[in-house]
Amino acid sequence: MRLAAARNVVPRATVILVAAVMSLLGTACEKSESMPPPQRPATTLSAAAPDEYLPAGAPAKTQAVALNLPKVPPARKPTSSLPKGTSCVTAECHATYQTAAHIHGPVSEKSCNSCHDEDTGTHHFPLKRAKTETCTFCHPVNNTQAHQHAPLKTAQACMTCHDPHVSQAKFLLKADNVEQLCQKCHDTPLRKFAHDPFAKGQCTLCHEPHQSANAKLLRGGEGNQHCFSCHGAMKVQFASATIVHKPAGESCVTCHSPHSTDNSHQLKSPVDQTCLKGCHQKMAEHIASAPDKHDAVKTGMACANCHNPHASNERHLLADRTDRLCLKCHDKPMQTPDGRNLENMKVVLASSSLHGPVRVGNCSACHDAHGGANHALLDKAFPETFYTRFDIRKYELCFQCHDPNMVLAPKTQSLTNFRNGDKNLHFVHVNRDDKGRTCKTCHEMHGSDLPNHMASGVPFEGSKWAMPIDYQKTQTGGSCTPGCHKTKTYDRGSAPTLILPTTRGAS
Ligand code: HEC
Ligand code: HEC
Ligand code: HEC
Ligand code: HEC
Ligand code: HEC
Ligand code: HEC
Ligand code: HEC
Ligand code: HEC
Ligand code: HEC
Ligand code: HEC
Ligand code: HEC
Ligand code: HEC
Repeated sequence: MRLAAARNVVPRATVILVAAVMSLLGTACEKSESMPPPQRPATTLSAAAPDEYLPAGAPAKTQAVALNLPKVPPARKPTSSLPKGTSCVTAECHATYQTAAHIHGPVSEKSCNSCHDEDTGTHHFPLKRAKTETCTFCHPVNNTQAHQHAPLKTAQACMTCHDPHVSQAKFLLKADNVEQLCQKCHDTPLRKFAHDPFAKGQCTLCHEPHQSANAKLLRGGEGNQHCFSCHGAMKVQFASATIVHKPAGESCVTCHSPHSTDNSHQLKSPVDQTCLKGCHQKMAEHIASAPDKHDAVKTGMACANCHNPHASNERHLLADRTDRLCLKCHDKPMQTPDGRNLENMKVVLASSSLHGPVRVGNCSACHDAHGGANHALLDKAFPETFYTRFDIRKYELCFQCHDPNMVLAPKTQSLTNFRNGDKNLHFVHVNRDDKGRTCKTCHEMHGSDLPNHMASGVPFEGSKWAMPIDYQKTQTGGSCTPGCHKTKTYDRGSAPTLILPTTRGAS
């Protein structure tokens, strides 16, 4: 019937006649009954999807255009009462009320008097109820929850955001879409890194427009629960991890903006600053003062190269066992800023004889991944050179786990298998004022394919040429033929005994 009425392009007198007929058919605007309050339309999250709204700037595609309705110039506003039964909505009067893209339920039913009272005599139809009650009479969207959106309480009330009759946009919005509506009052600029729903302008995926039980008008729960309502996998991760990072357990928005920032993952600061600023002050000082720095702390995801900022099953919130973390980068030959080549640790770790702590994947037994005072990021002293005047303090690194007497006792039957009879050959080589050999002269630090992870060669001092050691093990001793002397053998006179480190330094 509405369509039939709209198609009639008729002089004003006929409008009245048609309207009278329509009123008989029950479709004229002056229905005797107010519409019954509707069931509150269920709001689903998908209802707020952007494709539900008009794209910004697109012209409203009215039903009139779609239906190819003829356009007529609007009639002048009457100054006195119209005959009873006259329709308010015709091709020339309030025409958009039947042609707009979105027409309010009671308006499309031409039930004007569900909100407006009788004409006062000058074609003025006052509202039956106060502003807010005009709407809440049918839509009880306010005053039932703890947090009310401020504009609901203003004089314009619901009409701040909604048109009571028609709109180009869904939800009768007084804007082309939700985002534009919100941005009339809120400055929420789009920065370099934006949260997916924010970038799509889906403010109401996260916020209730009217009221909420949760602070900040949030949907899906308060605080972290709100985030978990979409990040379900993360909720599971938090619940199952043995260690939860305290700030993450408390509030996601300590580190992340829910909207948009200039840092990846909408972090409020770059990753390293996120950790160091305010909270890890001691670590900040340690890193700043370390003479030997590690690129890993700054590049890529910085701290998050190795740590999980949220929760983990590894100690110190490490993202994985340390060896696997280190291999994320050290799985290829690398260069230090001062031009030294670093070994491909992936190749080294494939060796058949691995050093105890390396075998169990504990790289941080010797290295401070954050940087430190010693070369090669070692967390304790260890000589950098192949020869050095002996001082036990130079070997602090090794002797936190091994018995220092192995280089202090000139004679022994038990401290080491590297002896000729009871002559301690570790003492002989290492414990000297002149040209004391450091451990790495004979041993590889991480592992090798020789027993006792012996080194196969020693770089001749000052050159890149590696002198072969040619270490041969026998039942009761061994021999070597390094470039510096002819073949030497040692014989304990007995099979090797098991010499375990004093501390295994396992993780
Ligand atoms: C759901 C309630 C409601 C219904 C139904 C309704 N109106 Fe209104 N109308 C209002 C409100 C509220 C205002 C005041 C708007 C404002 O102050 O922003 C208003 C204002 C008006 C105005 C003044 C101009 C304007 O747009 O602000 C006209 C004209 C009008 N209505 C016509 C109609 C006609 C014709 C119908 C029936 C087809 C109708 N209204 C149905 C609520 C309603
Ligand atoms: C007499 C009852 C009644 C009153 C009063 C009323 N509405 Fe409605 N409203 C409806 C009906 C019916 C619908 C359609 C419901 C549906 O489609 O499920 C509706 C739908 C809406 C919608 C959803 C539109 C969409 O695109 O989905 C909004 C927004 C709305 N009304 C706002 C208002 C505002 C603002 C007022 C006050 C100016 C108001 N209503 C007053 C009955 C009413
Ligand atoms: C700050 C702007 C704003 C104000 C003020 C406002 N609304 Fe809304 N309203 C919205 C937005 C935005 C939506 C769309 C919600 C969505 O995207 O899910 C909406 C949706 C609705 C809907 C349809 C969906 C639903 O929740 O049932 C109704 C009905 C409605 N509003 C009624 C009202 C009434 C009644 C008032 C006044 C008491 C009011 N609104 C005040 C912004 C507002
Ligand atoms: C007409 C202006 C206006 C519009 C439009 C508007 N708001 Fe607001 N909003 C306010 C005001 C005013 C406050 C209160 C600010 C304050 O307390 O500092 C507020 C507060 C908020 C808050 C914080 C609530 C709290 O408890 O701290 C959120 C979240 C919010 N608005 C979201 C939205 C969203 C989403 C939209 C779009 C659907 C929107 N606003 C549209 C005016 C508006
Ligand atoms: C992914 C969910 C999400 C989306 C999408 C989202 N917000 Fe928020 N918004 C939040 C959360 C969470 C907070 C609370 C932040 C806090 O407590 O620090 C918030 C806070 C706010 C506040 C309160 C002011 C403040 O910073 O505390 C306003 C206003 C606001 N949002 C507006 C918007 C607008 C406008 C949009 C759309 C352009 C939007 N939000 C999109 C989750 C979201
Ligand atoms: C309405 C659903 C929704 C809510 C609520 C939500 N997110 Fe998201 N979030 C997404 C979507 C969708 C993505 C993008 C898809 C993806 O990368 O998994 C995303 C991605 C992210 C990302 C990764 C961004 C990137 O660059 O990789 C972060 C960080 C994030 N969300 C944090 C949060 C935080 C913190 C909260 C709570 C304040 C939150 N989210 C609440 C839907 C949501
Ligand atoms: C202590 C700071 C901090 C807190 C608190 C925090 N995050 Fe993060 N989050 C980060 C950092 C740093 C990254 C980037 C590094 C990474 O990807 O692990 C990140 C990345 C993310 C990502 C994208 C990468 C991924 O793991 O999927 C999501 C999603 C995310 N956070 C969600 C959350 C949620 C949800 C919470 C609250 C339960 C939260 N964050 C709390 C620091 C934090
Ligand atoms: C290359 C990997 C790596 C990077 C990058 C890294 N860490 Fe660590 N971090 C570790 C390892 C491994 C441990 C455990 C050390 C141990 O076993 O004692 C650790 C331990 C910690 C600890 C606890 C122990 C302590 O010394 O206080 C804190 C705090 C910490 N890291 C903070 C940070 C911060 C902040 C950053 C970024 C600026 C960062 N880490 C970057 C690997 C890393
Ligand atoms: C994100 C990549 C990355 C990760 C992860 C990483 N490193 Fe590095 N590492 C580097 C780069 C790049 C260099 C060379 C530049 C430098 O010295 O910082 C380097 C250098 C080193 C050096 C030599 C330092 C020197 O000056 O001689 C050592 C030792 C080292 N890393 C140990 C580790 C250990 C142990 C881990 C695991 C706990 C690890 N790295 C994890 C990137 C990484
Ligand atoms: C038992 C102590 C110890 C453990 C455990 C250890 N390292 Fe080392 N690492 C050293 C020493 C000592 C050096 C320095 C050797 C030197 O002075 O030439 C070194 C040097 C390095 C270098 C620099 C290599 C080069 O070519 O200069 C890298 C990279 C490295 N380690 C990575 C690792 C990784 C990855 C792990 C765990 C899989 C690990 N380290 C475990 C003691 C250790
Ligand atoms: C965190 C403890 C720890 C530190 C530090 C440590 N080691 Fe060890 N080392 C061990 C363990 C555990 C074993 C025994 C491995 C096994 O069971 O095969 C071992 C064994 C050895 C072996 C004998 C390997 C074999 O096959 O019998 C040599 C050689 C060795 N370490 C040299 C060194 C040197 C040189 C240093 C100093 C750079 C050092 N270690 C520092 C724990 C440590
Ligand atoms: C001149 C070469 C040489 C030097 C220098 C050297 N070692 Fe050895 N080391 C050996 C040989 C050879 C063995 C194997 C003995 C055997 O099993 O027959 C050995 C064995 C070991 C063992 C296994 C247990 C034992 O004593 O039999 C440890 C631990 C060890 N060395 C630690 C060290 C440490 C720590 C240093 C530096 C302080 C060091 N070595 C310096 C040649 C050397």
